[in-house]
Amino acid sequence: MNISEKLGFKHIEWTDDHLVVLDQRKLPLSKEYFHIGSIDDAIFAIKNLVVRGAPLIGITAAYALCLVENQENRDSFFATCEALKSVRPTAVNLSWAVNRMINAYETHVGDDNPARILLDEAAKIHREDSKMCEEIGLHGNDIIPDECRILTHCNAGALATGGIGTALGVIYTAFFSGKTIEVWINETRPVLQGARLTAWELARAGVPHTLISDNASGKLMSENRINLVIVGADRVAKNLDFANKIGTYNLAVLANYHNIPFYCAAPTSTFDHNCPDGGSIEIEKRDADEIRKIFGAQISNPTTPAYNPAFDVTPGNLLTGIITENGIITP
Ligand code: MRU
Repeated sequence: MNISEKLGFKHIEWTDDHLVVLDQRKLPLSKEYFHIGSIDDAIFAIKNLVVRGAPLIGITAAYALCLVENQENRDSFFATCEALKSVRPTAVNLSWAVNRMINAYETHVGDDNPARILLDEAAKIHREDSKMCEEIGLHGNDIIPDECRILTHCNAGALATGGIGTALGVIYTAFFSGKTIEVWINETRPVLQGARLTAWELARAGVPHTLISDNASGKLMSENRINLVIVGADRVAKNLDFANKIGTYNLAVLANYHNIPFYCAAPTSTFDHNCPDGGSIEIEKRDADEIRKIFGAQISNPTTPAYNPAFDVTPGNLLTGIITENGIITP
């Protein structure tokens, strides 16, 4: 069973001399590719959510470092690394991948051109992420009952990773192993990753799904129509507090109240061993117009003050478990 083939799309690919990514701003209405030929292109793509999802922005940054001009110039290479790391501060996979590239860069000797070493390392990060997704899927499948109605938030699918996804990787693995799966998709305001991206992916895979407004999940839980919640993560702290798309914390509290198992699926590249707890995680604040407008259409007074944190922190003690490529961690 090859789940990637069943999904049937390529969303990140290194060609001879540049990176091509599926433009996630345009999905599902059009399938357009965005060409990253410079560091500036990569910074634009990460900042503006052409590519998004913690593992995928790490992989994009790794390939982007193969595009640095005058790679032999250490100072400029390291300055570019720092610039990339700061584009989106919450997802630790970004700095994790850049640090891997820095370590690879350090291994090039003397006056050798580091280009080959850098490209090999970026491709390795990509391959490893794909493998971790598959393993997360297999471990996660162990906790999915034969019949299950699962709620997910945002998009932690193939589009967010270099493989089949983390939370959706578990769902795909369970579904293609023959289990009866139905997925409730939170639309995920304000950028609508659930409505636009998760719904698109699940439809391609043929997984039964229903879109709901973010506000509907409490009603569904109270009616026993959700058996399990599974989400991704952008950074997991040492005490298992974790940051994920805004609204995840609400779901964890609701699931806890209703005694519904609440899982996070994340590769070990999302674990930050220098971060003691959720209070230490920097939360990205995005443009207020993401809330005041919906895809360019003004829905609020243009001067209405709006507060737009992209992520929230869920305390580890609300988790039933974290599904990693090495197995399931329970708090
Ligand atoms: O702002 P986004 O779309 O990058 O946020 C993505 C998420 O919050 C995902 O759940 C997370 O990165 C995990 S992706 C495997």
